[in-house]
Amino acid sequence: MLWQNECYYTNNRYPISTYIFQTPLKVLWLLVFTLLKAQIHRTIYIMTNLKESCPYYGTCGSCKLYNLSYSEQLDYKKQRVIQVFEKLNRSLLNEINGDSLQFDISKITNPVSAPSKYHYRNKMEFTFFKKNGATCVGYHESGQFNKFVEIDDCLLMKAENKSILKATKDWANKNKIESYNKKTHKGVLRYLMIRNSNKTKETIVTLVTSDGSAEMFEPLIAELKSCVALKGFVWAKHSEFADVASLKDSTLLYGEDSLIDSIGDKDFIIPFDSFFQVNNETAKLLYDKIYSYVKENDNVIDLFCGAGTISTYIADEANHILGIEIVDSAIAQAKDNMKLNGIPTSKAEFVAGRVREELSKIRFENEYNLIILDPPRSGTDKHTMRHIGKRQPERIVYVACGLGELAYNLKSVMEFGYKVIEVSSVDMFPWTPHVEVIVYLERI
Ligand SMILES: C[S@@+](CC[C@H](N)C(=O)[O-])C[C@H]1O[C@@H](n2cnc3c(N)ncnc32)[C@H](O)[C@@H]1O
Repeated sequence: MLWQNECYYTNNRYPISTYIFQTPLKVLWLLVFTLLKAQIHRTIYIMTNLKESCPYYGTCGSCKLYNLSYSEQLDYKKQRVIQVFEKLNRSLLNEINGDSLQFDISKITNPVSAPSKYHYRNKMEFTFFKKNGATCVGYHESGQFNKFVEIDDCLLMKAENKSILKATKDWANKNKIESYNKKTHKGVLRYLMIRNSNKTKETIVTLVTSDGSAEMFEPLIAELKSCVALKGFVWAKHSEFADVASLKDSTLLYGEDSLIDSIGDKDFIIPFDSFFQVNNETAKLLYDKIYSYVKENDNVIDLFCGAGTISTYIADEANHILGIEIVDSAIAQAKDNMKLNGIPTSKAEFVAGRVREELSKIRFENEYNLIILDPPRSGTDKHTMRHIGKRQPERIVYVACGLGELAYNLKSVMEFGYKVIEVSSVDMFPWTPHVEVIVYLERI
């Protein structure tokens, strides 16, 4: 009988028992090989990057991609962009002519690499906390709301900030000024914010506290003046429970509350509390790409314009620009930035308000053939995208720093007869998962 034979045979070649015992062995070997390969890869990576590797690797929550080599980071970010357009293509499938609107994924390339992988950030924010009875400055631990890692130096910030961290920590401990505790709501020091100018090498320091007096900062300001080119020192009081660095109630205690910085050949006035692109070098790459889509005599709407930096950058080429931004002070800054760069005031107008509301107030007869939008990381809403579609500009440039809503927002505007022509991206934030994407659409 068959079962009395030595064994069954598969494909008439091997006994089935060979398969039963060899398959788990093969899987085990494959697993060991994969783990070994990953470990060798990691060891080589650490050895080749030892000089610059971060002492907080593994605990600090800021650089989520620190275990990837730079080329792996770019691959990872490219995949993230591809996923957005796969999602968009899937949602276009059910549309009439949806096939012809789909974007050819093979055209998506790696993000343009950042010229500097380290020390690229011009703005830093730290939290105060208590450790072994001492006041410390640092970041949140990876994935932790109430655990922190003390930071003396950070590879993303400008080198001179190291002395600011030390001076602030020494001052707090010498004067027994305690950190604010989020659970008990006791203590004083909440956040430390540093803004550096790439152009002038000056620095503005902002300290957010729950309480205190102007006098208590005097020794700190004196110390900071001796160790960095201190342009200004701002004290912001934030006694509410919300764990955000609110800067509404602020007092300038030393110097000036804004500095001059540049992107490419344009200079900008940057107040201590305004949005400004965090990486000057890659912001230039981003703005150059946007500029490449502007044609002579274009009438442009610059949505979410911040301090008018994109408007200023493209002003030489455009005929007229209308900027919309929610922060009043940024609008005032946008006008000043135009002046600072010698651009006639007649060339641009800036409106303070919500994009969604202000956009619907613009008369349809006013011809705008190019709309640029650069919303915050959370994206914009369907209503705004539909309104842009109804206006029927010839071209749209969508700059996205958050990818969550991008496919959905693109689909919303494409329903009004638009096609994605080009997708590019810039690696604005090495070592983090973030990527800046530029999507260029044309009316069909
Ligand atoms: C990513 S930033 C872009 C700023 C500017 N384009 C630049 O390159 O510096 C987004 C801007 O949108 C503004 N903003 C956020 N929500 C807004 C809204 N609903 N309406 C108008 N502006 C808004 C923010 O204040 C911020 O200045």
